[in-house]
Amino acid sequence: MTTIEKLINLNGRSALITGAAGGLGRVMAASLAELGADLILVDLPNTEISGLINSLTERFKVNVDFMPCDLEQEVQRANLISQVKERNKSLNILINNAAFVGTSDLPGWSVPFEQQTVDTWRRAFEVNLTAIFDLCQGLIPLLRLSEGANIINIASIYGLYGPDWSLYEGTSMSNPAAYSASKGGLLQFTRWLATTIAPDVRVNAVSPGGISRGQPEAFQQRYIAKTPLGRMAIEDDFCGVVAFLASDMSRYMTGQNLIVDGGWGI
Ligand SMILES: NC(=O)c1ccc[n+]([C@@H]2O[C@H](COP(=O)([O-])OP(=O)(O)OC[C@H]3O[C@@H](n4cnc5c(N)ncnc54)[C@H](O)[C@@H]3O)[C@@H](O)[C@H]2O)c1
Repeated sequence: MTTIEKLINLNGRSALITGAAGGLGRVMAASLAELGADLILVDLPNTEISGLINSLTERFKVNVDFMPCDLEQEVQRANLISQVKERNKSLNILINNAAFVGTSDLPGWSVPFEQQTVDTWRRAFEVNLTAIFDLCQGLIPLLRLSEGANIINIASIYGLYGPDWSLYEGTSMSNPAAYSASKGGLLQFTRWLATTIAPDVRVNAVSPGGISRGQPEAFQQRYIAKTPLGRMAIEDDFCGVVAFLASDMSRYMTGQNLIVDGGWGI
């Protein structure tokens, strides 16, 4: 019989994480590095990431590369894919995490429905869905050559449920239609891709619930009142989930969506 220690070990494996400088990206990078994976971190050009790289290499003695890329730009995506293929003989884990998020500061985005714009809808779909299609298609040849290969798509509870507008009353927060629709699309793309590239590469999704990030007190209190586990998420809640999905711990799982929301949606 195999051991848990062996199943979870990522020594000799490598992972590419998009949006790696963000709240969840950093935590997922640290979790995979702790398990021994070398990392390719992807985020927007000019992102200040040297502190993160130094801390990961010092703490975990793994190789960490930064490949800047604006995932909204098709040409930059193509360059990223070529660079990864040139520099790496294998890639075991691809985590599609970067996104236009609810709090992104864009015109026509986190505003009432009537003011949401087609331009911003298109931009959000480009980053949240089209870029993921591109990265998966471009990197699957490398993934197919690699042991324990898998893709993790970071979706959202808003890809599954309609927003409860009573949470937002009296705040300046909103919930963009394109965010929900792109995350819902990502969940279905996860299932579609899972059967398409099985058995070589597993494809799963994570749907996080709301992470506590200084939202207005009234929003947080109402959100918590709806959450059986009695609090909003924190970034650290995702360490175990990513370790499980990225490693052989979940080797007989594909096409699944792990909802990590403290029970908010049940
Ligand atoms: N924070 C939450 O409450 C929450 C809830 C559900 C789902 N999620 C999902 O989790 C994932 C991570 O969210 P987060 O809260 O860590 O967000 P974050 O804003 O902290 O991080 C997102 C990262 O993506 C990068 N990014 C954005 N656009 C990019 C682009 N065009 N090219 C390259 N990089 C780009 C940003 O620079 C940033 O570093 C997202 O997919 C988000 O939708 C978050």
